Amino acid sequence: MKVLIVGKGGREHAIAWKVKESDLVKEIFIAPGNIGMENLGTLINIPEEKIEELADFAQKNRVDLTIVGPENVLALGIVNEFERRGMKIFGPTKEAAKIESSKEFAKKLMKKYGVPTGEYETFTDLELAVKYVEKKGAPIVIKEDGLKAGKGVTVAFSIPEAIEALEIAFSIPNNKVVIEEYLDGFEFSIIALTNGETVIPLEIAQDHKRAYDNDEGPNTGGMGVYSPVDKIDSNIIDQTLEKILKPMARGMAKDGISFKGFLFGGIMLTKDGVKTIEFNARFGDPEAEGILPRLKSDFVKAILDLMENKDVNLEWDNRYTVAVVM
Ligand code: AMP
Ligand code: GLY
Repeated sequence: MKVLIVGKGGREHAIAWKVKESDLVKEIFIAPGNIGMENLGTLINIPEEKIEELADFAQKNRVDLTIVGPENVLALGIVNEFERRGMKIFGPTKEAAKIESSKEFAKKLMKKYGVPTGEYETFTDLELAVKYVEKKGAPIVIKEDGLKAGKGVTVAFSIPEAIEALEIAFSIPNNKVVIEEYLDGFEFSIIALTNGETVIPLEIAQDHKRAYDNDEGPNTGGMGVYSPVDKIDSNIIDQTLEKILKPMARGMAKDGISFKGFLFGGIMLTKDGVKTIEFNARFGDPEAEGILPRLKSDFVKAILDLMENKDVNLEWDNRYTVAVVM
C-alpha cells in the first residue's frame, strides 16, 4: 500500500521510519518532509497547510492511508477534506482537534465528562484577570487560548510574573486567557491510538519543556524525552486510561465530535492522583522520537486494524530511549 505522511519535523521523521518497517507498505510519500527523510520516502513539495493540494495529490496517486503530524494542519481541517473525498486518513477532524486548538473548549469537555484537571476560569478582560490572580495567589498558570506551539503557557511563581504574562496576552486584541490552578507533581506524556471508542495507550514518555540547563529557561514545545518512565507504574497508567483518556474519547463520540487519531494527554501525577494538564490532538514531538523506536509491532497494521474496529495488541522493546532536541 501507499502511505502519505504530512509534516516536516522530527516527529514525522520518526513516524516515517516506523511506517517504512511495515510489511504492508510499498511506497511512502512525505509532504513536505525534510532532507533528512530522503531515504525514507519520496518528498513531495506541497506545504503542509495546503490541504486541498495534498488531497489532490493523494487522490491522483491512489494513497491508501494518510497520517498527519502537526496540529495546525488538523485544525485547518485536513481530515474533513480527505474524508469528504472518501480517503482514509488517521487524525481527528477540525471539530475534534479543538481539544488542542482551544484550551477553553478542552476544559469545558473535561468538566462535562468528569475528567480530572485543575480548576480554571476564562477571561477576556485584563482587569478581571488581574483581580482573579491576586485573589488566587501564586503559583498560578496563565494559558492563552488557541494554538501557540507550546509557547502560550506561563507557569508564574509570583503575582508580578502572572500579571506580566496577562499584560502580554491581552496586548493581542480579542485574546482569551485561561487561568488555571497550578498542579504540583510528576508530569508525563501519554499518547493513545483511538478510533473514538477503543483507546490503545502507547508506552509513555516524560518530556522536558523548559529551555536551558537546570530547567531555568522558559517553557518550550519540548526539549527532550525519555521512555519508559519508571516512576509511573501500570496502575497509574490504568487510572489515566480509565479516568482521563477513555472518558474523553467516549464523551466526545457521544457528543458527535468523535476523535480518531493520536489522543495525547499531558498528565500530572499529583498527591490526589492523575490530573490532566492538557490534551493534544496529535502525536507529541519529541515524544514520537522517543516512543516509536520502542514499538516492535507493525505500526501501520495497528492503525488500520483500529480504524476497522479489529483487535490491536502492541509489543514493545523494554530498552530505554532518550531523544534530545538540539
Ligand atoms: P501546555 O502547553 O498546556 O502543555 O503547558 C506547557 C507546560 O506548562 C506543561 O507541560 C507543564 O509543564 C506546564 N503546565 C501547564 N499547565 C500547568 C498546571 N496547571 N500546573 C503546573 N504546570 C503546568
Ligand atoms: N512535547 C509536547 C508536545 O508535543 O506538545
